Amino acid sequence: MRIAMIGTGYVGLVSGACFSEFGVDVVCVDKDAAKIEGLHANRMPIYEPGLDALVADNVKGGRLSFTTDLKSAVSGADAVFIAVGTPSRRGDGHADLSYVYDAAREIAQSLTGYTVVVTKSTVPVGTGREVERIIRETRPDADFDVVSNPEFLREGSAINDFMRPDRVVIGAETDRARAVMKQLYRVLYLIETPIVFTSLETSELIKYAANTFLAAKITFINEIADLCEAVGADVHDVARGIGLDGRIGKKFLHPGPGYGGSCFPKDTLALVRTARDKGAPLRIIETVVAINDERKRKMADKVVAACAGSVEGKSIAVLGLTFKPNTDDMRDSPSLEIIPALQKAGASIRAFDPEGMEEARHMFSGVTFCENAYETLQSADAMVVLTEWNEFRALDFERVKSLLRAPILVDLRNIYNPADMVAAGFQYVSIGRPT
Ligand code: UGA
Repeated sequence: MRIAMIGTGYVGLVSGACFSEFGVDVVCVDKDAAKIEGLHANRMPIYEPGLDALVADNVKGGRLSFTTDLKSAVSGADAVFIAVGTPSRRGDGHADLSYVYDAAREIAQSLTGYTVVVTKSTVPVGTGREVERIIRETRPDADFDVVSNPEFLREGSAINDFMRPDRVVIGAETDRARAVMKQLYRVLYLIETPIVFTSLETSELIKYAANTFLAAKITFINEIADLCEAVGADVHDVARGIGLDGRIGKKFLHPGPGYGGSCFPKDTLALVRTARDKGAPLRIIETVVAINDERKRKMADKVVAACAGSVEGKSIAVLGLTFKPNTDDMRDSPSLEIIPALQKAGASIRAFDPEGMEEARHMFSGVTFCENAYETLQSADAMVVLTEWNEFRALDFERVKSLLRAPILVDLRNIYNPADMVAAGFQYVSIGRPT
């Protein structure tokens, strides 16, 4: 089997590398020559644990290669995956599909023999049909099927999510297309991974329904956490108590400063817009979007309250800037709301993130970036944990206390035990847990 992966962003690169690990011959294509050159030198454009080794192994094994030449990659391929970006369109929140449709046109011109054209990017319902129309219009003689195969990869654990998924969803409407997809995922068949075959539209909707449901689940526990604070209950015990009910499930019930990242904020907004346009509004998700936006701002108030009601003229040490650990991704990170709000309230900010600093430097103004956690804490009036990187879990708290001007610790990810922190002499504030 040979496939072409169009787009070497997060989804394309991880999927391409993983398919090659499955024994498929993969050519990854990108218009960005510098990116391809970097990949030839095994320089990853993103930080994802294990990706560089996986890429290096498969390049060495001759199963994975990179090129800017879409035509040569597509002609003769059994399947062509479209994994280009679908950012939020400015102004209306719809997904911007111009890269997807441009790719479809280019692919159409290079098709030779029967080819399955797969949309891997997250695309609104109806996109697969439109890709089909575009290819048909560009190349009326082409022999192809369009398939939707959404990804459910989480940044930071994407390789494991690809290799050992809960399920694979494939919107394929012909036997020929289904046969090609089955062959590509042969390895997952062997480990009895459920493969859900559907229509194009259903598969596209499954992706959005999954992400919006998870966003709603997080938002639910975040609101329960607020209620816990009001009534003196512990949100972790509530999450465990409800999560052990198999109908609810214990995952994605960890409270925090609001969900961020490149997927949930964009996908919730896009589905809300689609649902409105189709006359079937998703009011529950509309509310989730509003609550999550508001929550990020409310987190700055929580820090201010912990600092005796004012951060005016105070120095706040922020640990973690990315939207979650094990990634360098800053997109829609809660830090982008919380830090400017604290600056507006008069605070000066010192910050450190293990992987996100390079991107973060362009995204904030007036922030002092530090080399490590301890340097960040130097003479700060409070420490605030914004991202739950492992290295922040095991700090030397005697040293932390000696560095801080006041032992105030605001933990917006609940990575420390309240009793331990109080015993260590901190004024400790976390989310939804009594101290
Ligand atoms: C998410 C989905 O989990 C993937 O299944 C999906 O493939 C991906 O979007 C996508 O559509 O591409 P990702 O954005 O990488 O993956 O990150 P998550 O681990 O889902 O976290 C998203 C946000 O929710 C983060 O800000 C995280 O801190 C927050 N979160 C997550 C919580 O606040 N609580 C939780 O219990 C879980």
